[in-house]
Amino acid sequence: MAKRDFLAVSDLTRDEILRLFDLAGRIKSGAYREAPLAGKTLAMIFAKSSTRTRVSFEVGAYQLGGQALFLSSRDIHLGRGEPIPDTARVLSRYVDGIMIRTFDHGEVEELARHATIPVINGLTDLSHPCQVLADLFTVREALSTWEGKRIAWVGDGNNMANSWIEAAQVLGFELRLACPEGYEPSRAIFERALAAGACLSITEAPEEAVEGAHVVSTDVWASMGQEEEAEARRNAFRGYTVDPDLMKLADPKAIFLHCLPAHRGEEVTADVIEGPQSRVWDEAENRLHVQKALLATLMG
Ligand code: CP
Ligand code: NVA
Repeated sequence: MAKRDFLAVSDLTRDEILRLFDLAGRIKSGAYREAPLAGKTLAMIFAKSSTRTRVSFEVGAYQLGGQALFLSSRDIHLGRGEPIPDTARVLSRYVDGIMIRTFDHGEVEELARHATIPVINGLTDLSHPCQVLADLFTVREALSTWEGKRIAWVGDGNNMANSWIEAAQVLGFELRLACPEGYEPSRAIFERALAAGACLSITEAPEEAVEGAHVVSTDVWASMGQEEEAEARRNAFRGYTVDPDLMKLADPKAIFLHCLPAHRGEEVTADVIEGPQSRVWDEAENRLHVQKALLATLMG
């Protein structure tokens, strides 16, 4: 059987996502006790910082009977110029799967092309599909389904926004994005999703996106690698803070999501992220359950 990679939400079909979530649900409830990764190793390459992705993949691999190797790209030869195809072929001889977090999405695609084992995108500048899978699982848990729901994205048209657009394409919920001019999501991803029939809209007005929404989600204004733009971005994103007044425009039962880490007082106020509508801790926990389901499916 051909190896399967997970580089984008749209690498999975709707039915595959539903099956993955059924497995993640059994994992979370404790009903699933198998060890499909027994004797197997996941290599985790990180060129950027991580708390949740690193810990949830490492613990997840262990709980499935396998192990994970943390490889900082600074410490392996990749970081000093060893070609990606060489790294891919060598790691394929030792380990059973690779999770990679880096800057350039093209590098992840190149790694996947040359590896003979599954490659998982643990975040690039373009997308963050593992996070959005966990977010969708959290939406299903909190609201029972995403069918017929309106999801609002407020802030940067970044990697998270791009993965939400792909999710809207595959699953058919309504996604309304509010992004300042110059900070829109990937045009290619947006147009591909629209052409595939996704229910998408984009505005510069957060109030318009959040009106009647069942889920309100945001992310930092300056992502990893954009630290030097932080000041300019704080100016550009003024008015995009998710605060109680904005949340009042959403459906009364709306939930708030944030992939974390969060900057209280910038993209979200402390009272919203700590408030009753926030599901951010369940969302972070669900990274573990959903990624275990993903590892069991791709590497088991
Ligand atoms: N949400 C997320 O991916 O967190 P980390 O950067 O801590 O992995
Ligand atoms: N957009 C953020 C997500 C962090 C999990 C970043 O890329 O830094």
